[in-house]
Amino acid sequence: MARKKIALVGAGNIGGTLAHLCALKHLGDVVLYDVVDGLPQGKALDLMESGPIEGYDAQITGTTRYEDIAGADVCIVTAGLARKPGMSRDDLLATNAKIITAVGEGLKQHAPRSFVIVVSNPLDAMVTLMKRVTGFPKHRVVGMAGVLDSSRYRTFVAMELGVSVTSVQALVLGGHGDDMVPVRSYCSVGGVPIEKLIKPDRLNAIEDRVRKAGGEIVNLLKTGSAFYSPAGAAVQMAEAYLRDQHRILPCAAYLEGEYGVRGVYVGVPVQIGAGGVEKVIEIALTDDEQKQFRVSVSHVEELVQAMDKVIAGGAKAS
Ligand code: NAI
Ligand code: 2OP
Repeated sequence: MARKKIALVGAGNIGGTLAHLCALKHLGDVVLYDVVDGLPQGKALDLMESGPIEGYDAQITGTTRYEDIAGADVCIVTAGLARKPGMSRDDLLATNAKIITAVGEGLKQHAPRSFVIVVSNPLDAMVTLMKRVTGFPKHRVVGMAGVLDSSRYRTFVAMELGVSVTSVQALVLGGHGDDMVPVRSYCSVGGVPIEKLIKPDRLNAIEDRVRKAGGEIVNLLKTGSAFYSPAGAAVQMAEAYLRDQHRILPCAAYLEGEYGVRGVYVGVPVQIGAGGVEKVIEIALTDDEQKQFRVSVSHVEELVQAMDKVIAGGAKAS
């Protein structure tokens, strides 16, 4: 059977880590694409040379030509600017909207049947734009944020209790902004509801740290944002598709009435398998969680409106 082909659009910090993880997990052959000549080729060659050490045979190539992604089964998009200290994810809007428009056109032409996972920020607006530009159906365009944000929630709960992260279940829904929604009523440790194990004031502090976790790393790194955990999160989604796992993961999905939301991408639990986003799972939230979710959704809607204005302004100017 032919190997699957994974196209990574953007060969920066996340792109390079994605390529490494795809190879280590034997997901298929990898094409790294970037606009900076030498960067994808250099990373690809370095990764090929670690194949004999790690025991993978994947073909990893680097390119600046879209033609080379032809036939990709999965495209993971990290092209764009990353945050620096003092910047919010939303500050990236204008620049990354131009980049995602260019990338979307490339994917539409050269990988028209692929499953597309968008990572670039501001995530919920960029994945909405990707769907529009490609015209791909909603089950083939999804955004990565919830897997990462939930992993952060699990990490901080495990640190608080001194237990294995594998014993902690958690869900973060809504937009990938500082008003994302860590859903306390679905957080548990070894099946025990979290509220029975951690006092409310500590839980509040943990959830606040989750909301600001991206910024915490930006402030430490100073030159960019998190990349190991975002890459791991996107690869988990790609793997669920490529291996037809029917896995339930929190992802930015296009909603058409679910959770009372229509026409935008927002983080909700979905099922991912060979059919792409096969199902949006609707879960009951407490009144307070619903309120937080609505606030987060309205921020995503404002962000998409701001993006539309920026795009319309750019079109008028040109
Ligand atoms: P990076 O700066 O290391 O890499 C971005 C790459 O995109 C660069 O190599 C750049 O040359 C390339 N690029 C720019 N324009 C391009 C184009 N038109 N086509 C192809 N490549 C192009 O950034 P990093 O750390 O890899 O982050 C990538 C994006 O992911 C950022 O927007 C960042 O904010 C976002 N991010 C999203 C997360 C999420 O949870 N959704 C988490 C962490 C980062
Ligand atoms: C993160 O959450 C900045 O969105 C990026 O790490």
